[in-house]
Amino acid sequence: MTVDHPLPIVRTVQELRVETAGWRRRGETIALVPTMGALHQGHLSLVALARAHCRRTLVSLFVNPVQFGADEDLSAYPRDEASDAKKLARAGADLLYAPATAEMYPEGFATRVAVAGLTDHLCGPHRPGHFEGVATVVTKLLLQCLPDVAVFGEKDWQQLQVIRRLARDLDIPVGILGAPTLREADGLAMSSRNAYLRPRERRIAAHLHSTLVELARAVAAGDPCRAAEEKALRTLLEAGFTRIDYVTVADAATLQPIARIGERPARACAAARLGETRLIDNVAIEIS
Ligand code: PAF
Repeated sequence: MTVDHPLPIVRTVQELRVETAGWRRRGETIALVPTMGALHQGHLSLVALARAHCRRTLVSLFVNPVQFGADEDLSAYPRDEASDAKKLARAGADLLYAPATAEMYPEGFATRVAVAGLTDHLCGPHRPGHFEGVATVVTKLLLQCLPDVAVFGEKDWQQLQVIRRLARDLDIPVGILGAPTLREADGLAMSSRNAYLRPRERRIAAHLHSTLVELARAVAAGDPCRAAEEKALRTLLEAGFTRIDYVTVADAATLQPIARIGERPARACAAARLGETRLIDNVAIEIS
């Protein structure tokens, strides 16, 4: 559906609750799509999934300072609320919740949500404090919006597992939906960070997906994970990645590294840098 009227925007928890209470009184279900803006087709596919599940789609736009590390430039994060709101209106969202930092973290805010275990591997050690920041803001968003379902991209596989776990552990009554990763024609996962890539880096970036696909194929065929991971690491370095944070086969739910593919679902996951830009991706390991 396309619309030519502007998307309504609320900026406070109080305004948000007035809108969502009206929906609930009418028996309308609510899907939340949390974002940090800089929206691309991948985000719009989350909106489409939300709309397929619920009568109302609420999108949040909040660049969450507490999930940025000391070496990550929060001020450089792309922001264009007007353009994001237009895209969301065209995609059929019903409401944008765009709180200021002081609304989300008022003076004296002192609480953190930490999900142990799941954050010990993959991106966790490379981005200290990141998942605590994500878990804290997502918990707040879920409690502020009280949606029936909330939608997150599978590209951030570890984030998705952390959010599933916090919702379960804290008895937050919400269904967490994972949306498949949208990819460019050469396989690169859509991400707001792709905009930072220079033309040469953009060409190299496509190797992240193809390397993970090959890693997944090799371990599904019975290769030991460690040897296949080492080969994948060499492939990424030869392709031109400047630093590999990890390229690993992990249990899809616990995120623990695994030595050989067994019965449980597994994912091939990687994080690698091209200059200043850090890219992540993951693919399912299909055992035939
Ligand atoms: O995936 C993101 O864009 C963010 O980590 C999220 C889930 C909106 C929390 O700030």
